Amino acid sequence: MDDHALRSRIAGIEWCHPIDLGGVVTRPEWHVRRRFARRLKFLDLPADLTGKSVLDIGSWDGFFAFECERRGAARVLAIDTYAWDQFGMDGFLLAHDVLGSKVEYRRLAAEEIDRVTIGTFDLVLMLGVLYHLRSPIAVLERVRTVTSGTLVVETHGLVPALHERYPLISFFPGDGRGSGARHEFCAVPTIECLVQMLRAAGYSTVNVKHRPSLKALKKLKAALTGRPQTGRLIVHAS
Ligand SMILES: C[S@@+](CC[C@H](N)C(=O)[O-])C[C@H]1O[C@@H](n2cnc3c(N)ncnc32)[C@H](O)[C@@H]1O
Repeated sequence: MDDHALRSRIAGIEWCHPIDLGGVVTRPEWHVRRRFARRLKFLDLPADLTGKSVLDIGSWDGFFAFECERRGAARVLAIDTYAWDQFGMDGFLLAHDVLGSKVEYRRLAAEEIDRVTIGTFDLVLMLGVLYHLRSPIAVLERVRTVTSGTLVVETHGLVPALHERYPLISFFPGDGRGSGARHEFCAVPTIECLVQMLRAAGYSTVNVKHRPSLKALKKLKAALTGRPQTGRLIVHAS
């Protein structure tokens, strides 16, 4: 496919991820590229994944799955439900095709993860997924059974005005299952909550790699508005 044809295929798709398809980027806006470059830096994934297996939960357009393949992973499995159902898989499939990728993909909910059917993985990515979950701990227990190495969780972390060291999490009924509650909010845990959930799910080593920034300001805003704030939280668990 020449550049012109590729650009017109890209233009016909609503993209979440800025994937470089041989010089043509699916979302070329500088701020989007910068955001993903920063995410890659903060996530601190191994630079060399030669021979490793990777599971990307909630892969959407596959940015992180393709990145792991680029870093040498021997097996990458991308799973998703909501985005692929709502917005389609055209982006993922186009990138897969153009990159000549061998990334496996399967429509599978995090709640359906099963070691017998998908196997185990050296690296498991759960990026931007936890706060979509109705039952986070139940999912983390399943994810533990397929993690033979490290799980990387990136999520919104809760920054309340008070009690930030307490294991708090906001209630979320699940995507498309609005509760009608006044403060509709995803399942967003404090750092302590995420650490304790991961330990409870069976991970013995839990390293907090990135904490919500501007905490003092967010706490002040939470106090003034009566609404907890959020920030990026990244944890590695094994
Ligand atoms: C905020 S996006 C994050 C996409 C990508 N992982 C990233 O970090 O850029 C959340 C993704 O998780 C997926 N997702 C939400 N709930 C899910 C579930 N229960 N099982 C599997 N995927 C889910 C959504 O469809 C969407 O692709």
